[in-house]
Amino acid sequence: MPNDFTKLLLEWNRSGNTRQMPWKGEKDPYKIWLSEVVLQQTRVEQGLAYYEKFIERFPTITDLAMAPDELVFKTWEGLGYYSRCRNLLATARTIAFEKSGVFPDSYEDILKLKGVGPYTAAAIASFAFGQPQAVLDGNVFRVLSRYFGICTPIDTPEGKKLFSQLAKALLYQDDPAVYNQAIMDFGAVVCKPQQPACETCILRGDCQAFQLGCIDRIPVKSRS
Ligand code: ADE
Repeated sequence: MPNDFTKLLLEWNRSGNTRQMPWKGEKDPYKIWLSEVVLQQTRVEQGLAYYEKFIERFPTITDLAMAPDELVFKTWEGLGYYSRCRNLLATARTIAFEKSGVFPDSYEDILKLKGVGPYTAAAIASFAFGQPQAVLDGNVFRVLSRYFGICTPIDTPEGKKLFSQLAKALLYQDDPAVYNQAIMDFGAVVCKPQQPACETCILRGDCQAFQLGCIDRIPVKSRS
C-alpha cells in the first residue's frame, strides 16, 4: 500500500496532470534513451524539437548507428555539450552492431552504456521495462526536500544518499513508470523552483516547507 505522499502524487497525476510530452507513455527504449540524453543538460522546451528531428531522421537505433557522423552531429547542432552526441552515436553502434540491436533491459547493463548515468538508467529501466528504479533528478530533489522538510544539502554525498533512499522507499511498485513520470511532471509544473503553485497544491497540507513558510529556502545546496 503506498504511503500518503505517493497516494497524493498519483491522485494529482490522475486528476491534475495535463502535461503532454511526446515520449510520455513511450515503451521503446531507444526513444526513451534518446529523449533522456537530449534532456540531460537541456530544457524540455528546447529539447522537444531536437527529439522530434532525431526520431524523424533516425526512427530506429540501427538507423542512427548507420548514419554518417556528420549527419548526426548536424542534427545535434545547437544543443551543445557535444560529448552527449558522441556518446549517443557510440552507444547506438555498440547496441546495433555488437548486441544485435537489442537494447539492454537491466538497470546494471543500461548503466554501463556510454553517456548513461544513474538518473538516465533509472528512467530507461522504469519507462521502457517497468522496473522498480526510482529516478532522482533536480525535480525529485526539490519535491522531496520541500514535502519532507529536509535541510540536508542536496549536493553532498550525505544528501545524495538520503534522497536516494527516500526516493526508493516512496516509489510506487505497481507502476514505477507512471510514478517516475508523475514526480518529474509535478516538479516541473507545480513544485517549481520559482513561484511554485502552493495555493492550489494537493500536497500542501502535509508539505513541511509550505507549513513552515520556507518553500523558497528549500532545497538547500552547500554551494549557491
Ligand atoms: N526531464 C528529463 N526527462 C524527463 C521526463 N521524462 N519527464 C519530465 N521531465 C524530464
